[in-house]
Amino acid sequence: MSYLQDVDLLNKYAYHYYVLDDPLTTDEVYDELYHKLVAYETDNPLECVDYSPTQRVGDMISDGFNKSKHLSRMWSLEDIFNVDELDKWLTKVGKLSENISFYCEPKFDGASLNLIYEDGKLLRAITRGDGVEGEEITQNARAINSIPLRIAYQGLLEVRGEVVIFKKAFDKINDERAKNEEALFANPRNAAAGSLRQLDAKITASRNLVFLPYGLGENSLEIELLSQKMEYIYTLGFRRPPDAKETKGFKEIEAFYEKMRSERDAYEMMLDGMVIKVDQIEAQEEMGYTVKFPRHACAYKFPAIEKITTVRDILLQVGRSGAVTPVAIVEPTNIEGVVVERASLHNFDEIDRKDIRLGDKVIILRSGDVIPKITKVLTHERSGLETPYLRPTQCPICESELLDEGALTKCQNLQCEARVINSISYFASKACLNIDGLGEKIIQALFDNKLIANVLDLYFLKLDQLLALEGFKEKKSKNILSALESSKGSECWRFINALGIEHVGEVGSKELCKNFGLDFLDVTKEQLISIDGFGEEMSESLLEFIRVNREFIIKLEETLKPEHIKQVEAAENPFKDKVMVLTGSMSESRGLIKTMLESLGAKVSGSVSKKTDFLVYGEDAGSKYDKAISLGVEAITETQMREILS
Ligand code: IVH
Repeated sequence: MSYLQDVDLLNKYAYHYYVLDDPLTTDEVYDELYHKLVAYETDNPLECVDYSPTQRVGDMISDGFNKSKHLSRMWSLEDIFNVDELDKWLTKVGKLSENISFYCEPKFDGASLNLIYEDGKLLRAITRGDGVEGEEITQNARAINSIPLRIAYQGLLEVRGEVVIFKKAFDKINDERAKNEEALFANPRNAAAGSLRQLDAKITASRNLVFLPYGLGENSLEIELLSQKMEYIYTLGFRRPPDAKETKGFKEIEAFYEKMRSERDAYEMMLDGMVIKVDQIEAQEEMGYTVKFPRHACAYKFPAIEKITTVRDILLQVGRSGAVTPVAIVEPTNIEGVVVERASLHNFDEIDRKDIRLGDKVIILRSGDVIPKITKVLTHERSGLETPYLRPTQCPICESELLDEGALTKCQNLQCEARVINSISYFASKACLNIDGLGEKIIQALFDNKLIANVLDLYFLKLDQLLALEGFKEKKSKNILSALESSKGSECWRFINALGIEHVGEVGSKELCKNFGLDFLDVTKEQLISIDGFGEEMSESLLEFIRVNREFIIKLEETLKPEHIKQVEAAENPFKDKVMVLTGSMSESRGLIKTMLESLGAKVSGSVSKKTDFLVYGEDAGSKYDKAISLGVEAITETQMREILS
């Protein structure tokens, strides 16, 4: 293939990956082609084209940003907060124009950006600034993969949108920053805005920013509806919002808002409301502007997920790896229907860096189902009675001396009760041996009565030993023993996962099983590194675990007799390698259907995305069904699924 064909192919791969969320190939193939291009461009610099994906980030570090004017003003939006205000807003708009409909989409919580294209090329990227002029950050915008460098439209065009960081990427960035003892970002919005204004575009590139277009400035597109204009924009290579709808009036708008609000945690990015815009461009223009806002649009805000509360105490948790993590106990606060009583603190350095004191007023942020975080200390509200927190030097459980590894503080005592109890709970948990009824309280009781000291001891428990314990009636005791018995002969990956090897989770355990079955005790580092997803750290951790625990693992294996088979590649079938989601009630438990589909080589996921190939739905299917339909995912009934298979 010629150089330009390679550039086109790589751009196509990147578009499918970053814009459509639907990769055409593996990372490996992409990287190989990328490196081939880099090599060619280094040897033939004169042939290099500026829309090559290798040219997104240059070596230049800017010494500041220049101010630059938007071609047309970037407005902000009037906020509304409840049904009454929605009703009033709709009445007001209805008086200005008749026969209108509305285009509703999420309000993304990030940093706004204006992209100016001319002759099909990205000319300038400007931050919102005061709406009239902002900072020119074109080099950084080029580093965002979902911003096309070239588009198939030659006229002058301003595409406006929000630059966001997905919640998962945000957590990763902060985990990484905590490890490196750097200050954490308070929320994804700050992280996005900060990343956009880096003088070194390489930093911007490393932050996995995503551009979500929401409108146009200067343009001469002759399209009557905003919804259709946006459709056209997506065909130029921009990302589609995760949800959008054309609506008629109050009822439909309110229903769509409610749906978006109740599902806000499930979105990959932070949303802080829903934007309602008049769909008819002509009507929009007729309505005009107030000093601050366009009359044709408003932001229907979601209830806040940031609240002010007080730090009452800082407790310590000891995990199964011995890591000691501080947790803030806060004045109970209701955030969007959930009473928050604890907030995570990454590590002790984080307490120092933020100078969190007992009694401090703080802002907490709840996003998704993750534990809320303290994002800010309101130091100006201090009374002087707040007390600084002193780092522990001893394990709060076993009192042995703690090892301070910088970002991590560890209890090194393998026999530490917290470590033992947590390891056993993990062993029994759903993703491991799934031992029904063996919760933390029971494990604690067995441990306190010296019936168990490790997971192997569980399998030598006798009925009369259990019956002798307080609160252990016959039925409960028999259930525990039979659950333990049925955990024998489990799938091999569950056995490996249950060992709780640091850095080797469920996916790693499955890969190990697929490649070596239970022969994993004798693998070499070379063999491990050759497995997809196994890096240096994971491989080292596994080998070290085997070195220290070989005898114990063998004994456990003899007792538990996990399936000693390498996973065989599933035969060809319509669901092999397909991503599937199950929803609604079915003729048998979804767990069983999941297992059946997995044995056919399907990947069964918990949530619908553009990557989903099939949604299988039973009775009373809810939001997952709606989402699948809106994303164009093929939805089939359980019966249809079975018909396809037979
Ligand atoms: S439309 C004329 N749509 O919210 C309308 N804005 O408060 C101008 N934002 O500065 C904005 N998601 O940065 C619009 N779907 C969306 C949005 C959105 C986020 C931001 C945008 C703007 C601010 C307005």
